[in-house]
This record gives sequence, structure tokens and C-alpha cells, in this order.
Amino acid sequence: MSVQIRRLTTGFAGEVSGIDAARPLLPGVAEEIDAGMAEYGVLVFRNQVLTDEQQAAFSENFGQLELPSAVSNITKSHERRLGPAMADVSNLTKEHRPFDRDDRRRMFNLGNRLWHSDSSFRAVPAKYSLLSGRILPSSGGNTEFADMTAAYEALDTTMKARIEDLVCEHSLLYSRGRLGFEGLTEEEKTNFHPVRQALVRTHPANGRKSLYLSAHAGRIVGWPVPEGRLLLEELTEHATQRDFVYVHEWRINDLVVWDNRRTMHRARPFDDVNEVRDMRRTTVAGESMTAAQAA
Ligand code: OGA
Ligand code: MN
Repeated sequence: MSVQIRRLTTGFAGEVSGIDAARPLLPGVAEEIDAGMAEYGVLVFRNQVLTDEQQAAFSENFGQLELPSAVSNITKSHERRLGPAMADVSNLTKEHRPFDRDDRRRMFNLGNRLWHSDSSFRAVPAKYSLLSGRILPSSGGNTEFADMTAAYEALDTTMKARIEDLVCEHSLLYSRGRLGFEGLTEEEKTNFHPVRQALVRTHPANGRKSLYLSAHAGRIVGWPVPEGRLLLEELTEHATQRDFVYVHEWRINDLVVWDNRRTMHRARPFDDVNEVRDMRRTTVAGESMTAAQAA
């Protein structure tokens, strides 16, 4: 059986059928999904009832897993609810209760509601993210995706020339700082030291350029900070216009896969102090840096 992909009514997302992600893939199928990812940027797989182990095994079809670690979160290992391959994108404690309103893990996780690309704060940032919707709230909690290839291509030639060779610094310090999150320990601040990313990147599979923006981007190398922030704000506003955005309304057991190299995403609000939203992410590591790192 081969993979079928139907374009979802709004733009650059596709819905895949003919796949059971819980089982090993037949030869050639991972390549077909990769080709679909190069075309669409976001693929939705419905009715995928998965254990964490099955989700990790499916993800490994597309490359090595990027493991969550102290460089990506403030949750201590003894507080973790899930195994080592899983990024816990839920609002839950280990005891399966929603975080209290002022729990610092909740406040840190609220950063996912800003437009971002996963792990752009790592020198080698993520390739794909695979997010499984295990328990959904009664309302709210959509995920929105922005098509950074379309956004780049819609820029005028002056702007394209202006940004072509720019490099940005990305860090969790910047994205969390935007929300006024404070009280990071010295150790956390060290873990979150900035890395450099190109502002324009070329997709290895389709050869198209895209904007590489993220809430983690906090300065443009060589520019005064406010001037750099303004340009990043302006580009983000452009890239997240409704025309470039797909809104995913979750159904239970959806598995949504996106290419971080050519999309941004953000979580939308829900009553997270009272309701449960159990989302689990696996991440496929990227293959290269987008810019040389500072010495
Ligand atoms: C993520 C993320 C958004 C959401 O899993 O990386 O940002 O809607 N999730 O939970
Ligand atoms: Mn994310």
C-alpha cells in the first residue's frame, strides 16, 4: 500500500492516509512520507493510537531522535512524566494533575504559545517534530503553523537582498524573556546560551528558500539590538499573516508532523489550569548547522 496525501483546504498542510504509524513501515514508505514533507511542510495522520515506544520507532524512520535535555527545558529529570525520547508538551505533573497557575514549569511552557521553530536554540536545530494528541481539552488548544517558504517568496526583492546573509542569535533566554519569565538559575542561564542561525535557509530537499524565524531569535549579529528586534518583529508579522497559516484543530489520536526548517508553529490557549491536554512530541534531529558558531 502506498501513501496518499490530500491537501487540506487551507494551503500547505496535507492529510495522509494509508499509514499505520504503530507498525513498521514497508520499504520505500518512509521515503514517500519524506517526499510529502518536502512538498507540504505539515502532514496530519489521523487515528494513530500510539504508545510512546511506537511513536519513537516511527519517528526514527526519518533520522536520529533529538532527545530533550537540560539545554531545552527547566524540568528536572526526577520530575519527568515521560521516557527519555519524549518531549512532554502536556500541562501535567508526574501525578497527572494540571500544573498550578504559578508553577514555573507552566510559566516556562507558556513560551510554546509564541511563534517558534523547535530547538532553534540548538546549534544543530531540529528537522521534524511529531506531535501526538493523546488527551484534548473540551475547547481551545489548537496548533497553528506558518509557511515560511511562502512567506519568504512573498517578500519584495529589496527585502530579500537585505536579509540574505543575516545571522541571528537564538536562545530560550530570549523567548522566555519576552513573556517576562524570570528567576532562571545560573545553571539554566548557562544551558540556554545563545547559538547562531541563518535568517534565510535553503531546504535541502526542494531547494526553496525560507525565512528562519522563531521566538527564540533575540538579536541580529552585528546590529544594534533594538534595530534587529524590529526587523525580526516585522518579518514575523509578515510571515504569520492568515494567508500563510494553517490552523490545526485537534482530533484525538492525531499525529501531526512538521518540518521545522520551513515552518513556525504556536500553541493556542485553553483552560490549562483546569483541563488536561496531553500532547507528546518526538523530534528528529537536524543534520547540520545553519551558520558558523561564535568562537
Ligand atoms: C511543540 C509545540 C504546540 C502545541 O510540541 O513543539 O510547540 O500546540 N506544541 O502544543
Ligand atoms: Mn514547539
